[in-house]
Amino acid sequence: MGLFGKKANTAGQVDMGRLPRHIAIIMDGNGRWAKMRGLPRTAGHKEGAETFRRIARHCKKLGVDYLTVYAFSTENWKRPKEEVDAIMSLLGQYLHEAIPSMEKEHIRVKFFGDLSVLEPELRGLAEEANALSDTIEGVQANLCLNYGGRDEIVRAAKKCAEAGVEWTEENFGKFLYSADVPDPELVIRPGGEMRISNFLLWQCAYSEWVFTPTLWPDFDEQALEEAIVAYQRRDRRFGGVK
Ligand code: FPP
Repeated sequence: MGLFGKKANTAGQVDMGRLPRHIAIIMDGNGRWAKMRGLPRTAGHKEGAETFRRIARHCKKLGVDYLTVYAFSTENWKRPKEEVDAIMSLLGQYLHEAIPSMEKEHIRVKFFGDLSVLEPELRGLAEEANALSDTIEGVQANLCLNYGGRDEIVRAAKKCAEAGVEWTEENFGKFLYSADVPDPELVIRPGGEMRISNFLLWQCAYSEWVFTPTLWPDFDEQALEEAIVAYQRRDRRFGGVK
């Protein structure tokens, strides 16, 4: 299903010469997708993890350099333990499968967030993926895990103060999880909600947002392309005039 419902949006094709370098996505709607099918919420997350694999591959195919997804927020610990465990387990499964093939597949998997509180096995895999990604080439998929935009900003402020550097936007950016990654030009929120939910608060200052009712497990390659086309139709002025 595409971005605007069942029918394909025939209104345009992706302009490959003006692709966003960085796309960020709030993977929302897994629970509702499962509920509609009489399945446990965890089944929605399992399907959501598959969608992530497909969308990351499609970003690579199109030539998008960075994909950042919200996998687990600093607030998601409030969810039932069974659901939290299921999400962590899906991330572990993904890393077990992805790490050996990252070099061949040209996908670099990196993590944004505080990994210190994770189970040692998952933390080890995440750190392995981070380290390996620094040595290979390919599309960079950033998984936000135990991530919160406010938490990231407070941490960066503390580090900026500790380092004793001047408080400029440029210096501040060096202490964010996203140091070295350009800001996302496009942020997509499937699932029908229209809020930021503590995602990339600093980095999305001038991002174009595309909201769609499509639930994340139903979000597909066509929906991604439609979101890119919607972004390409926007008139970006960055506070100036044209
Ligand atoms: C939000 O949907 C989704 C999450 C909090 C978890 C997202 C995690 C995954 C897709 C799995 C991660 C694994 C990989 C490999 C990326 P929701 O549960 O809030 O949906 P709802 O609003 O319909 O309840």
